[in-house]
Amino acid sequence: MRSDRRRWVLAAASIPLVGAGRAHAQAAAVVPQALPVERLAAERLGEGADTQPLRKPVPSTGELLPVVGLGTARRYDEASPVLRETLERFAGAGGRVVDTAPSYGRAEAVVGEIVEAAGLRDRLFLATKVGADGRQAGRAQIEQSFRRLRTTRIDLIAVHNLRDVDTQLKTLRELKGEGRIRYVGITTSFDSQYADFERVMRSERLDFIQVDYALDNRAAGERILPLALERGMAAMINLPFGRGRLFRAVQGKALPEWAADIGCTTWAQLFLKYIVSHEAVVCAIPGTAKPEYALDNAAAARGPMPDAAERRRMERYVDAL
Ligand SMILES: NC(=O)c1ccc[n+]([C@@H]2O[C@H](COP(=O)([O-])OP(=O)(O)OC[C@H]3O[C@@H](n4cnc5c(N)ncnc54)[C@H](OP(=O)(O)O)[C@@H]3O)[C@@H](O)[C@H]2O)c1
Repeated sequence: MRSDRRRWVLAAASIPLVGAGRAHAQAAAVVPQALPVERLAAERLGEGADTQPLRKPVPSTGELLPVVGLGTARRYDEASPVLRETLERFAGAGGRVVDTAPSYGRAEAVVGEIVEAAGLRDRLFLATKVGADGRQAGRAQIEQSFRRLRTTRIDLIAVHNLRDVDTQLKTLRELKGEGRIRYVGITTSFDSQYADFERVMRSERLDFIQVDYALDNRAAGERILPLALERGMAAMINLPFGRGRLFRAVQGKALPEWAADIGCTTWAQLFLKYIVSHEAVVCAIPGTAKPEYALDNAAAARGPMPDAAERRRMERYVDAL
C-alpha cells in the first residue's frame, strides 16, 4: 500500500467508527469522504496495518492518541525492574497515555523515577489528578505532582472525582495558560456522581473527561459518553476490567469463536476492544503492572474493531453470563 494512502487509512482508523460530531468534522477534514470508514478501516487494519496502534484525535486539538493507555492505581509502590519493564514494553508497543494520581500511594514518584531513568518522557502522555479542598491545598498538591513526576510540563491534570471542582478547574486553567499543563479535565468512577458530572460537562469547557465504563458496566454510555461527543470532550475510560471483575466472570471459559472476527486472542483484548470502539472514547487506561499485561492490552489497539452489530453481540454475551 502506498504510504500516503496508508497514512489516510490510519487517520481514517482514528475517526470514531460511526456518526458525525464536531470531533468527526475536524478529523473528517483529514480524510476523503468517499472512504467507507468503518469497514475499510477494520479491513485495512486487519491486513497487516497493525504496526501502528489505532489512534484517535483529542477533539480540542486534533492530537492523535493511541487508544490503549495504562493506569497505575495499584501495584506502583516502588520502581522495581518489573515495573520498569512494564512501562518500557508499553511504550515499545506504541502506548503513550499513563494515568496516575497523588492518591495512588507512591505511584507518581515511581512513574517519575522510571520515566526519567528509562528516558521515556518524550514518548509518554502523563496524566494525573488534583484531589484537594481549597486553592492553596490544590496548588501545593499540583506542585508536588510536578516534582514527583520529575517533569516541568504535565500533559493532563483532571479534578479527581469532582473534589472542589470549581476552585480546582480555575487553578488548572491558569496552569494551562502558563503552558505548564496542556489539557484540563474531570474524573469520576461513581455513578452517584454522574448527575453532577453532567452538570460540569454542560457548564465548563473541558479537554478530557474520565469515567468508568466496561462491557458489564455500561451506564456511562447512556448520557455521559454521548454528551462528551456533543461537547467535543475526549473520553478516557477507567476501570475497563471492573478491577478484575470481568476476568472473574469469564474464569475458565474459552473465548467465543466470534472473538477471532475482531482479532481477539485474549479476554483482555475483547474487553478493551468493546470500549475503544465506542465513538466517544479516545483511550482506555487499564491498570497494568506486569510486562505481559502491557503487551496483551496493547494488542487490543490493533486489528479490526467491532462494529455496532458486533458490539451488541458482545453485550448479549456478557449479559447472559
Ligand atoms: N475516579 C478515578 O479517577 C479513577 C477510579 C478508578 C481507576 N482510575 C484509573 O483507571 C485505571 C484502571 O482502573 P483499575 O486499575 O482500578 O482497574 P482495571 O483496569 O479495571 O483492572 C486492573 C486489573 O486488571 C488486571 N489486568 C490488567 N491487564 C490484564 C490482562 N491483560 N490480563 C489479565 N488481567 C489483567 C490486573 O490485575 P492484577 O494486577 O491483580 O493482576 C489489574 O490490576 C487505574 O489504574 C487508574 O489509573 C481512576
